[in-house]
Amino acid sequence: VWRPEPGFLASLPNLKLILSLGAGVDHLLGDPQLPRHLPIVRLVDPHMTDAMSEYVVLQVLRLHRRDLDYRAQQEAGVWRELDQKNAVERRVGILGLGELGQDAAKKLKALGFDVAGWRRSEKTVTGLRCHAGAAGLPLLLGRSEILVCLLPLTAETEGILNSSTLALLPRGAALVNAARGAHLVEEHLLAALASGQISAAVLDVFREEPLPADHPFWHHPCIVLTPHVAAFTNPVTAAPIILDNIRRFEEGRPLLNRVDPARGY
Ligand SMILES: NC(=O)c1ccc[n+]([C@@H]2O[C@H](COP(=O)([O-])OP(=O)(O)OC[C@H]3O[C@@H](n4cnc5c(N)ncnc54)[C@H](OP(=O)(O)O)[C@@H]3O)[C@@H](O)[C@H]2O)c1
Repeated sequence: VWRPEPGFLASLPNLKLILSLGAGVDHLLGDPQLPRHLPIVRLVDPHMTDAMSEYVVLQVLRLHRRDLDYRAQQEAGVWRELDQKNAVERRVGILGLGELGQDAAKKLKALGFDVAGWRRSEKTVTGLRCHAGAAGLPLLLGRSEILVCLLPLTAETEGILNSSTLALLPRGAALVNAARGAHLVEEHLLAALASGQISAAVLDVFREEPLPADHPFWHHPCIVLTPHVAAFTNPVTAAPIILDNIRRFEEGRPLLNRVDPARGY
């Protein structure tokens, strides 16, 4: 399922297994009548992971190489060289070091970026600077000139991109949110852009989707937006993965990518 009507799953008397057609499960766990005693699995498709990393690399390169500034210069017919750092001098921070965050970090590192990440647990990732938990968040933010959000949406991460956290980034930092719209407090981003604390934002997800026609993000010169397309489910590659989990369930073998409803992801 993908975004079933709240209460729909509870209305199915013989339901045994719930498979999310997407990587995130916030749409399921938000249903107050969700049969939480049933196993819930999410989709982890390596091709979807590749697609997300393509998106993240594309946007980080765009910000790193000052593409927005050059677009504006072209618009104005201006020929001017802007300062350019080397990738190794560019500090990128990734919120969420799961399936998607780890792959994006690895690919950004391969391009030479100085990458660090943040997660809930103290687990480390070989070759990557990892910060964990509430104490680790300011450390990650304080170093991130480009901050990429790849967190699941949970009670703990809702609104995590807000005026307090954005203020901890180095002045002029840029933001990429490809996780969920509700991670961002949208008015706080607009204020941070107005003050210069944030120089640019690339957003794939929004509190309300489709983004309303009169939303200020549409025509903001420092915002690039895409319509929730960073990585979507491709039936050709997803179907065999879903089938494998159904077979595992029928044969009593361990399920892959099980969700912990108490943890929220
Ligand atoms: N825009 C799109 O098209 C699109 C497509 C696919 C997915 N997504 C979004 O991307 C999200 C991430 O996917 P994924 O497959 O990478 O998920 P995942 O494998 O479950 O990884 C989640 C990561 O977030 C960390 N995390 C969770 N709660 C946290 C907290 N309170 N504090 C710090 N770290 C926390 C986890 O920490 P631990 O490692 O310590 O557990 C883990 O590293 C999905 O939930 C979905 O919302 C968006």
